[in-house]
Order: sequence, then structure tokens, then C-alpha cells
Amino acid sequence: MFKYINKSIVAMAVVGGLMAAVMAAPVVKSTSPAATDGFEPNLKSTKKVVHPPYAMAKAEKDCSFCHTEKDGKSGALKMDTPELCNQCHEAKDTKKFVHGPVAAGACTACHNPHESDNMKLLRFPNINQLCTSCHMDKGDFLKNTKHIHPPVQDQCINCHDAHTENFKFQLKADGNKDLCLMCHVEKKEHLASVTHKHGALDRPKKCLECHNPHGSNTPKMLIKETSKDLCLSCHNDTLTQQGSKLVDMDKHLKDNPDHHGPILWGDCAACHNPHGSDNLRMLKKPFPESFYSSFDEKNYICFECHEPAKIMDANTTTATNFRNGSKNMHFVHVDKEKGRTCRACHDFHGTKEYPHHLRTKTTFGAINFPIRYIETPTGGSCAPACHARRHYDREKPIMNLK
Ligand code: HEC
Ligand code: HEC
Ligand code: HEC
Ligand code: HEC
Ligand code: HEC
Ligand code: HEC
Ligand code: HEC
Ligand code: HEC
Ligand code: HEC
Ligand code: HEC
Ligand code: HEC
Repeated sequence: MFKYINKSIVAMAVVGGLMAAVMAAPVVKSTSPAATDGFEPNLKSTKKVVHPPYAMAKAEKDCSFCHTEKDGKSGALKMDTPELCNQCHEAKDTKKFVHGPVAAGACTACHNPHESDNMKLLRFPNINQLCTSCHMDKGDFLKNTKHIHPPVQDQCINCHDAHTENFKFQLKADGNKDLCLMCHVEKKEHLASVTHKHGALDRPKKCLECHNPHGSNTPKMLIKETSKDLCLSCHNDTLTQQGSKLVDMDKHLKDNPDHHGPILWGDCAACHNPHGSDNLRMLKKPFPESFYSSFDEKNYICFECHEPAKIMDANTTTATNFRNGSKNMHFVHVDKEKGRTCRACHDFHGTKEYPHHLRTKTTFGAINFPIRYIETPTGGSCAPACHARRHYDREKPIMNLK
């Protein structure tokens, strides 16, 4: 932190000793500022932080280490900053990216070279006031933005170096991801361990594809108004995954305007973990992979919001409307050794033709067949490829012929 300017001084460990040695050489009493032009040490200073060379100059009534007489005035600087400062301090522009005012040598834009009530001789009592005194747009942002990232609210230098750093914007690590993971250690572990990773994190801006590092008006500092808008900004074209196409969700939702509850709220993250997960399609909870699956309540994310009784009570007059009299048709279809998973009949994103998020067509192996659902006031019927048309009626149970 401290640069010794002269090898003979290196031996001196005590700052005072160093100061004396450094300052002894250039002192020429005759250039000491005269009292007449206001260039006079204020011996009564009560500032909390006094720059040692200034304290020494005051004590010795000699300011000539930094000042000199020029054109008849004694207040001129003996040399420009940063050279003046670099006599005693390590240069502040040594890394790959240098902050504008540091590159311009404007050390005193931020530091008072004499004394100050603020730490590090700063011109403002806190860092964010200092930074936003020039970066006024960021000051407005802090005032007008609903969700400010806590470390930004705290102090800008949690992430930026005031002088120089090896990463763009003088960040302490690569701002797209590494910086985030320095603090969000739990995310680092999560990303490393999950089996279903999200392709979004392989895009160039990584975390910043979705988050604003300073804050935003959306909870979790998202760059779009809802997680849905965010997801659809990428899932609007046919994204491919290891050669096979992912559903174009933007188009799917436009073509199927009866959207499932969480999507109506704009919350795709109600079911998907945008950072990846150990479940099919990065779901927050499991969901069976195939058309048939032996039923286990634990395998259905649906029960985060829907009552399991809807599926599991063999007989009911309340838990579901999908019943023939009191015989639960959900139970009949789903709750078995070789049960049909919800996807056989429902689409979890959006549907069009039928109510209750029943899909128009279902996929079974290589075929895609219509379910031909007909709703009645007290029940309904369908005629998929699985069987001939069969009916259910909640009030007058129907005997379907095999
Ligand atoms: C460590 C170097 C250093 C020492 C020692 C020092 N000054 Fe300065 N002084 C500066 C710098 C740098 C500036 C220019 C400040 C700026 O750009 O705003 C300055 C500016 C000034 C100014 C112009 C007005 C102002 O405050 O910005 C006065 C007056 C002044 N110094 C008086 C003194 C007196 C009196 C002493 C001795 C007791 C002294 N200085 C010691 C570095 C020093
Ligand atoms: C004659 C040597 C000398 C010169 C020239 C000098 N400094 Fe210092 N400065 C010191 C010493 C000694 C300290 C105290 C070191 C410490 O606490 O680690 C110090 C401390 C500081 C600190 C930290 C204060 C704190 O509270 O920790 C800042 C900021 C600083 N100087 C800025 C400057 C700037 C800006 C200039 C140029 C305008 C400058 N210095 C020129 C010797 C000097
Ligand atoms: C944009 C404002 C800004 C400018 C310009 C600036 N500094 Fe600083 N400086 C800070 C802040 C903020 C700190 C305290 C935080 C820290 O230690 O990183 C600091 C700390 C310091 C310190 C004490 C800690 C250390 O890193 O050694 C010294 C010495 C220092 N600055 C010298 C300088 C010199 C010399 C220049 C000009 C080349 C300069 N500063 C320009 C904002 C600035
Ligand atoms: C004295 C005015 C001033 C202060 C105080 C100041 N900055 Fe700057 N800052 C600048 C200037 C000038 C630039 C260069 C702008 C450019 O190149 O477009 C800059 C550039 C930056 C950049 C890079 C922006 C870009 O688009 O490349 C960052 C990041 C930054 N400052 C952060 C900070 C932080 C953090 C602080 C507080 C520790 C701070 N600034 C305090 C004047 C200041
Ligand atoms: C949590 C870390 C973090 C904190 C704290 C932080 N920043 Fe940043 N900042 C970043 C990242 C990451 C980027 C790069 C953004 C990008 O690549 O689009 C950045 C970019 C910038 C830029 C240049 C691009 C722009 O947005 O204009 C400026 C200026 C800036 N920050 C100023 C500030 C100021 C002022 C503060 C304090 C009020 C601050 N930052 C606090 C992480 C942070
Ligand atoms: C200096 C430490 C630090 C860094 C660096 C950092 N964060 Fe944070 N972040 C926090 C803290 C502290 C919180 C608040 C506590 C929490 O939610 O964990 C937080 C909260 C968050 C939140 C939740 C905000 C909310 O509304 O609940 C998100 C999202 C976030 N950070 C994303 C990021 C991203 C993206 C980056 C990288 C650009 C990043 N963080 C870098 C410390 C950091
Ligand atoms: C595809 C978009 C996307 C990407 C990329 C992304 N996030 Fe998020 N992040 C979100 C969404 C959406 C939420 C809100 C999640 C929720 O509501 O459950 C969130 C929430 C968070 C939170 C708050 C805690 C939590 O898990 O809910 C943190 C912290 C966070 N993200 C950090 C990161 C970090 C660090 C990265 C980069 C490694 C990153 N995010 C990449 C979309 C993303
Ligand atoms: C920055 C672009 C981007 C954003 C934003 C984005 N994604 Fe993705 N997503 C991708 C890419 C690219 C893939 C393909 C990954 C691959 O090739 O494996 C993908 C894949 C997926 C997959 C399939 C994953 C699997 O394991 O099969 C799901 C599900 C998904 N995204 C959901 C979401 C959700 C929900 C959101 C919003 C929270 C979202 N995505 C936001 C780019 C994005
Ligand atoms: C109610 C929970 C839920 C919500 C909310 C939800 N999804 Fe899904 N998503 C699923 C389930 C379950 C699957 C697995 C479907 C399957 O394999 O049949 C899936 C699959 C996907 C896939 C992979 C599709 C493919 O190619 O097979 C993408 C992409 C996707 N969702 C994106 C989104 C987006 C974007 C949103 C918000 C608009 C969203 N999801 C909201 C439950 C949900
Ligand atoms: C064999 C087709 C089929 C399967 C498989 C299926 N459902 Fe249904 N579901 C229906 C029908 C038909 C209705 C409409 C009942 C009515 O209102 O007449 C329905 C209605 C619903 C409703 C609306 C409320 C109610 O119960 O009446 C929910 C919620 C629901 N199903 C969830 C699920 C979940 C969760 C799964 C998987 C665990 C699932 N369904 C599996 C056919 C099915
Ligand atoms: C995050 C909560 C949530 C999760 C998880 C969830 N749902 Fe829903 N679901 C809702 C809400 C809210 C509604 C009511 C609004 C509507 O009709 O979409 C609903 C409605 C339904 C309906 C239509 C009800 C009717 O009578 O029209 C069906 C069918 C359905 N969900 C099936 C599922 C299936 C299958 C899953 C699991 C893949 C699932 N849901 C997961 C919240 C959720």
C-alpha cells in the first residue's frame, strides 16, 4: 500500500520516521508559503482524519513538500497529481481497467489532500454519496427503484474498486457470474450440483441475462416486469436442446390463450427453477417423465397447489369434478401401478379448445391423437385413441360398455 521512494528509507518501519525522511529532502524554507495570500496552515483544525504529510507540514509550518511558489503565488502544486501522491503511495492505475478520474489523475476529486471528517480523506461521508455525486443517474436510480440489491444500497465498492481492477467496470471479479458467486455461495453449489442445467446460463451475459446487478422494479431484480416476460424473451423461438426442439412457449401461449393460473400471474418460476434443478425440465419439484408412471404423490409438483385427494381418494363427492357418481375418475386413471400422468389429459401451460386445461391432442409414443372431449352440465365424455367414447356424470353415474 505504501511505496518507499528511496531504498535507504525502506529500513524505517515507523511511518513518522518515513515521513520525516521523505519530507526532509525537498524542503526549501524560502519557498514556504507566505502568510499574506491566505496560504496559511489552520492550526486549529478539528477534522477527524488528517493526512500525515499535512499534519507534519503544519507542525513544521512548512508546506513545501507539496506546494511551491509559481507566478508570485505560493499555493501552486509542486507537481501534478497523481505524481505528487505517487511519491508516497502505490500508483492507483496499475490494473487493466482504470476508473475515469483516476486515469485523469484527479485524485483530489475524491480525496481531500489535507484533512477530512471522512474515512480515507474522502470528500463525502459515505461511499454512495461520493459515487453518485458524479454518477447522478445512479443516484436517481437508487431513489426511484423499488428493489435495490442490498450490497448496492450498502456501498458501491462492495463490487467496484474506486481506482483500478482487472475486470471491466473495475469490478472485483467477472461481473457476469463470478462476482455474483463470490457472495451467493449457495448458488455456486447449486449450479455445480444440479443435473438439469439451464442453457440461459451459457449465454454470454450469464446471470445478467436475467438480473440487473444494481436492482430493478421487479422483485429479485429481474430485468423484465415478470418472470414470464423474461422467460419468453428467449423461449420465443425454437430453442434446440441436443438436436431436439423445445416447444416455442411464446407461440404456444399465443395459440392457447386459456393460460394455467401461475402463468396468468406471470410466474413461470412457480414451477421452474431458472437456475436449474435435479428434476425433469428444471422443475422445482419432480414430475414424472413419461406417459405412464406408477403413482407416487411425491412425484407430482402439481400437489404444491392442488389437493392430492383430487387424485388419491377412490371415492369422493367433493374432491374433484372428474367423477362418475362418487367414483373418482382421476383415481381410476392416475393412481395405479401403471397410471397415466397428468400430461395424458392436461396441458400445464395453456389450452384452447376445451375447459379445465384439457389438451386438444395427446402424445402417445410416436402418435399424436385428439381426445375429443365433450363437456356436459354434470360431467363429460371423451374418445381418445385409448378407448371408445366414455362418459362420466356426477349426478347420474353412467355405465360405460367395454
Ligand atoms: C500531501 C500534499 C499536500 C500538503 C502537504 C499540503 N497540500 Fe495544500 N493542496 C494539495 C493539493 C493536491 C491541492 C489541490 C487540491 C485540489 O485540487 O482540490 C492543495 C490545495 C491547497 C490550497 C488551495 C485550496 C484548497 O484547499 O483546495 C491551499 C490553500 C492549500 N493547499 C494550503 C496548504 C497549506 C497551508 C499546507 C501546509 C500546512 C498544505 N496545503 C499542505 C496538497 C498538499
Ligand atoms: C509525503 C508522502 C505522502 C504524499 C506525497 C501523499 N501521501 Fe497520502 N498518506 C501518506 C501517509 C504516510 C499516509 C498514512 C498511511 C497509512 O495510514 O497507511 C497517507 C494516507 C493517505 C490516505 C488514506 C487515509 C486513511 O485514512 O487511511 C489517502 C486517501 C491518501 N493518503 C491520499 C493521498 C493523495 C490523494 C495524495 C496526493 C494528493 C497523497 N496522499 C500524497 C503520505 C503521503
Ligand atoms: C472516484 C473517487 C476516487 C478517486 C478519483 C481516487 N480515489 Fe483513492 N480512494 C477512494 C475510495 C472510495 C477509497 C476507500 C476505499 C478503498 O480503500 O478502496 C480510496 C482509498 C485510497 C487510499 C487508501 C487505501 C489504499 O488503496 O491505499 C489511498 C492511498 C488512495 N485512495 C489514494 C488515491 C490516489 C493517489 C488517487 C489518484 C491517483 C486516488 N486515490 C483517486 C476513491 C477515490
Ligand atoms: C469525480 C467524479 C466521479 C466520481 C466521484 C466517481 N466516478 Fe465513476 N466515473 C467517472 C468518470 C468521469 C468515468 C468515465 C466515464 C466514461 O468513460 O464514460 C467514470 C466511470 C465509472 C465506471 C465505468 C463506467 C463505464 O461505462 O465504463 C464505473 C463502474 C464507475 N465509474 C463507478 C464508480 C464508483 C463505484 C464510484 C464511487 C466509488 C465512482 N464511480 C465515483 C467519474 C466519477
Ligand atoms: C453487487 C455488485 C455491484 C454493486 C454493489 C454495484 N455495482 Fe455497479 N455494476 C455491477 C456489475 C456486475 C456491472 C456490469 C453491468 C453490465 O455488465 O451490464 C456494473 C456496472 C456499473 C456501471 C457501468 C454500467 C452502468 O450501469 O452504467 C456503473 C457506472 C456502476 N456500475 C456504478 C455503480 C454505483 C454508482 C454503485 C453504487 C451505488 C454500484 N455500481 C454498485 C455490480 C455492482
Ligand atoms: C458483495 C456481496 C454480493 C454480491 C457480489 C452479489 N450479491 Fe446478490 N445479494 C447479496 C445480499 C447480501 C443479498 C440479500 C440477502 C440474500 O437475499 O441473500 C443479495 C440478494 C440478491 C438477490 C435477491 C434480491 C431479492 O429481491 O430478494 C438476487 C436476485 C441477487 N442478489 C443476485 C445477484 C447477482 C445476479 C449478482 C452478480 C451480478 C450478485 N447478486 C452479486 C450480496 C451480493
Ligand atoms: C433465466 C433467467 C435467470 C438467470 C440466468 C439467473 N437467474 Fe437468478 N433468478 C431468476 C428468477 C426468475 C428468480 C426468482 C425465482 C423465484 O421466484 O423462485 C431468480 C432469483 C435469484 C435469487 C434470489 C434467491 C432465489 O433463488 O430465489 C438469487 C440470489 C439469484 N437469482 C442469483 C442468480 C445468480 C447468481 C445467477 C447467475 C449464476 C442467476 N441468478 C441467473 C432468473 C434467473
Ligand atoms: C437468456 C435466454 C433464456 C432465458 C431468459 C430463459 N431461458 Fe430457458 N432455456 C434457454 C436455452 C438456451 C435453453 C436450452 C438449453 C439446452 O440447450 O439445453 C433453455 C431451456 C429451458 C428449459 C428446458 C430445460 C431442460 O432441462 O430440458 C426450460 C424448462 C426452460 N428453459 C425454462 C425457462 C424458464 C421457466 C425461464 C424463465 C424463468 C427461462 N427458461 C428463461 C434460454 C433461456
Ligand atoms: C404449473 C407448473 C408450470 C408452470 C407455471 C410453467 N411450466 Fe413449463 N413445464 C411444466 C411441466 C410439468 C413441464 C414438463 C412437461 C412435459 O414434459 O410434458 C414443463 C415444460 C416446459 C418446457 C419444455 C417444453 C418441451 O419442449 O417439452 C419449457 C420450455 C417450459 N416448460 C417453459 C415454461 C415457461 C416459459 C413458463 C412460463 C410462461 C412455464 N414453463 C410455466 C410446468 C410448468
Ligand atoms: C384421463 C384424463 C385425466 C388425467 C390423467 C388427469 N386429469 Fe385432471 N381432469 C380431467 C378431466 C376430464 C377434468 C374435468 C372434470 C370436470 O370438471 O368435468 C379434470 C379436472 C382437473 C382439475 C380441476 C378440478 C377438478 O378436479 O375437477 C384439476 C386441478 C386436475 N384435473 C388436476 C389433475 C392432476 C394434478 C393430474 C395428474 C396428477 C390430472 N388432473 C390427471 C382429466 C384428467
Ligand atoms: C403454483 C401453483 C400451481 C401449481 C404448481 C399447479 N397448478 Fe394447476 N392451477 C393453479 C391455479 C391457481 C389454477 C386456477 C386457475 C386456472 O384455471 O388456471 C389451476 C388450475 C388447474 C386446472 C384447471 C382447473 C379447472 O377447473 O379449470 C388444471 C387441470 C390444473 N391446474 C392442473 C395442474 C397440473 C396437472 C399441475 C402439475 C403439473 C398443476 N396444475 C400445478 C395453480 C397451480
